[in-house]
Amino acid sequence: MIVVIDGPAGSGKSSTAKAVAEKLDIQYLDSGALYRAATWIYNKSDQNRDKFFDTLNEVNISFKYSDAFFNVFVDGDDISSEIRSQDVNNSVSTVAAMPEVRVFINKLMHHAVSQNHYIADGRDLGTAVFPEAQLKFFMIADLEVRAQRRLKEMGETDVSLDQVRENIASRDNIDSNRDSDPLKKAPDAIEIDTTSYSFEEQVAFICEQIRPHLIATTKQ
Ligand code: CDP
Repeated sequence: MIVVIDGPAGSGKSSTAKAVAEKLDIQYLDSGALYRAATWIYNKSDQNRDKFFDTLNEVNISFKYSDAFFNVFVDGDDISSEIRSQDVNNSVSTVAAMPEVRVFINKLMHHAVSQNHYIADGRDLGTAVFPEAQLKFFMIADLEVRAQRRLKEMGETDVSLDQVRENIASRDNIDSNRDSDPLKKAPDAIEIDTTSYSFEEQVAFICEQIRPHLIATTKQ
């Protein structure tokens, strides 16, 4: 079974999806982390497209969700912290807009979800990657609220609220306007505006929607 949550940066998708995965004892897939891993490789390739694609095809990207943490590995090295750097934040939407990168990451994701029950979060999961998903959610929130949440999540940092807001707004713009699988609400997705919902309410609402599907698939 696959359930998806799409939405812009800082809308609360990943923290909500993780909490739902914990409560329902299912797996969590962070598609953004995989685009971040590809971006990490792009930066290591000096942002040279030829070098980047050669390396992308040579390395092994793997991931594991355990203890409420989504870890990403490149050739066995854990790069989970490095993919959250400002360097990666600044280039990820450019890399994610490359059609070849989308095909590559989509293959990785399809292979993983065929093996278990998953909740996954991203931008285009309900529209392009898993249009067959049993349930689709689309989370939104005001830009200011999203920027404040993201800054808080970053903990001790030199980055200012203005920089975070600017990065989020710029990524929203690239993600929504790219040609390949842009950020878009699927017509059959349930929209949740998290500006006024509490975190617990969001998690409880989503779990309530998923439970009957989980029981139905387990019975088959
Ligand atoms: O956590 P945050 O919302 O900041 O972003 P993320 O989920 O880590 O995703 C980082 C970037 O990857 C996004 O800004 C998109 O450019 C790209 N992405 C995408 O294109 N498609 C997805 N399914 C997930 C992420």
